[in-house]
Amino acid sequence: MTMVGILVLALCLVSASDMGEAEEVMASPISVCTPVFQYFPYCLEFLVGDPNFSTPSRKCCQHVMELNTLAHHGIGPKTICWCIEIMVKGMTPPLLPSKIQDLPHMCNTTLSFPISDSMNCSKVS
Ligand SMILES: *[C@@H]1O[C@H](CO)[C@@H](O)[C@H](O)[C@H]1NC(C)=O
Ligand SMILES: *[C@@H]1O[C@H](CO)[C@@H](O)[C@H](O)[C@H]1NC(C)=O
Ligand SMILES: *[C@@H]1O[C@H](CO)[C@@H](O)[C@H](O)[C@H]1NC(C)=O
Repeated sequence: MTMVGILVLALCLVSASDMGEAEEVMASPISVCTPVFQYFPYCLEFLVGDPNFSTPSRKCCQHVMELNTLAHHGIGPKTICWCIEIMVKGMTPPLLPSKIQDLPHMCNTTLSFPISDSMNCSKVS
């Protein structure tokens, strides 16, 4: 990783610890959320209860595993929580809690980060 990359990441992590700074990071040209914005949408059809997606797609499950890796070895669960929240807040239809709960076992995995539209991500450890 370049020095610029490290600096941007550090700045974003500082911002991520404060929910009030969300707009600031969204406006940043190199967003720490980019991988989340790429991976997470593949799970949205399932998570909002689209009847054509009663099971999560293969791509969704693969991407959940990528996000788990990022939670353990990358940007961390707090930042992923917060990036997902930026993405889905106020979305219609909203994410269904029952589908969020079903997602990990339907993908034969565990979730190493929370999925929510309204939790306090600064409490995630
Ligand atoms: C589900 O699939 C059917 C058939 O392809 C389509 O007509 C319908 O609009 C889809 N429903 C949603 C919610 O996308
Ligand atoms: C999950 O594991 C079960 C049993 O091993 C298997 O039948 C199923 O296809 C797997 N599902 C996925 C999405 O990998
Ligand atoms: C989120 O939790 C942190 C740590 O407990 C707290 O300081 C902060 O006020 C909370 N933010 C909101 C919006 O509830």
